[in-house]
Amino acid sequence: MADTWSDRFEEGLNPAIARFNASIGFDLNLLQEDLDGSIAHVRMLGHCQIITLQEAKLIEGGLEKIRSEAAAGAFNPGIDDEDVHFAVERRLIELLGPVGKKLHTGRSRNDQVGCDLRLWLRRRLDELDGEIERFQKALFAKAEKHLHTLIPGYTHLQRAQPLSLAHHLLAYLEMLQRDRDRLLDVRARVNVCPLGAAALAGTSVPINRSHTAKSLGFEALYANSLDAVSDRDFAVEFTASASLVMVHLSRLAEEVIFWASEEFSFVRLTDRCATGSSLMPQKKNPDVPELVRGKCGRVFGHLQGLLTMIKGLPLAYNKDFQEDKEALFDTVHTTRAALEAMSILFEEGLEFCSERLTSAVESDFSNATDVADYLVGKGVPFRDAYQLVGRVVKHCLVKGILLRDLTIDEWKDFNTNFEVDLFERLAPKQVVASRLSTGGTGFDRVQEQLSYWRHRLGSRKE
Ligand code: ARG
Repeated sequence: MADTWSDRFEEGLNPAIARFNASIGFDLNLLQEDLDGSIAHVRMLGHCQIITLQEAKLIEGGLEKIRSEAAAGAFNPGIDDEDVHFAVERRLIELLGPVGKKLHTGRSRNDQVGCDLRLWLRRRLDELDGEIERFQKALFAKAEKHLHTLIPGYTHLQRAQPLSLAHHLLAYLEMLQRDRDRLLDVRARVNVCPLGAAALAGTSVPINRSHTAKSLGFEALYANSLDAVSDRDFAVEFTASASLVMVHLSRLAEEVIFWASEEFSFVRLTDRCATGSSLMPQKKNPDVPELVRGKCGRVFGHLQGLLTMIKGLPLAYNKDFQEDKEALFDTVHTTRAALEAMSILFEEGLEFCSERLTSAVESDFSNATDVADYLVGKGVPFRDAYQLVGRVVKHCLVKGILLRDLTIDEWKDFNTNFEVDLFERLAPKQVVASRLSTGGTGFDRVQEQLSYWRHRLGSRKE
């Protein structure tokens, strides 16, 4: 351990402090990116004649050797290696001898770790995009099947107006699309190269930052070396965007949970995604959506954790930054796991109970607005129509009947404008069909939205 540091150190670390200080337990996760970053760096050193091309080739070979050792399970650094960066460098020197000691020329772990983290997150962002798209497709497939299935629409969780079930599901496709757009936007700020900032101030070694950035596929370079090594905005932005993904999954999860209850019975859970009770033999529990809802806590917690970790840090690098990794890793892991589980839930874990949904929308007053709109069509001012229908509803509630049970004579007692065509307007299908305003639930509008999404989701490369 004593040889980790320069000759100014005489003693090794207290073992408990070594454990406390080490990040190798979790940052080995960055191994591929650390190797990629080092290869780009060493090629640049060769290109700029800071080391010879032959040395650069040897070092690159050593780094690839470490990659294959790791693939074979033969690269297992311990606490003494402190972190992935030291572990790789040490193994390289073991493999190559003195030439390995040239790798770290013109570089610091501070710009190195920033580079690794960005490369890692950039890959995960691309994978997440595909995972959100899979979930959109699962929702879309259900929506396509249920254009003409009606579902009660709620405000305040009180029956409001009936909806096309497809319309309800497509609302989530919209949210998920915003999530994808947001993550793409975050990607642009992840894709900036800090390499070459060295410890904090840049370097006197004649490096070429554009060369490394280009070979790693970064779109830009940090203009300020201090900012380069101490910017973690991208980690916060990502975690905030992932939090919104979780919010969207959780809102739908909550709906599935109550849809699956005896009281609603709007969906049936298949055996593929539901669990039983250890005690009550009759039970089938919606564990999947409950866990998705529950896992929001950790992702929102990571967002709070990152903001708090960063807020008091003076420029430039501070060891506090080491705490960014587990937050990012777990945010990615949790969000992906939740997306996958929700995709499977909609692919094979639940079925909408169409008959139950149909009867649900027939037994309420969710067509009351349509009576008011009917009178508006006859020239009655909306507010008067609204008051009148309120009186009709009250009358029905007292008699224990629904609007459709009133005779035309009874309707005419309320207002002479009512004609028999009113009854057609009261049918739930017609109530839904008539909402043809842009973005509304009218079947024709929803059909257009389905076409839009079919095209949008279908035309992307898999
Ligand atoms: N393990 C460290 C981290 O995760 C790497 C950078 C260490 N830099 C330093 N100056 N101690 O942030």
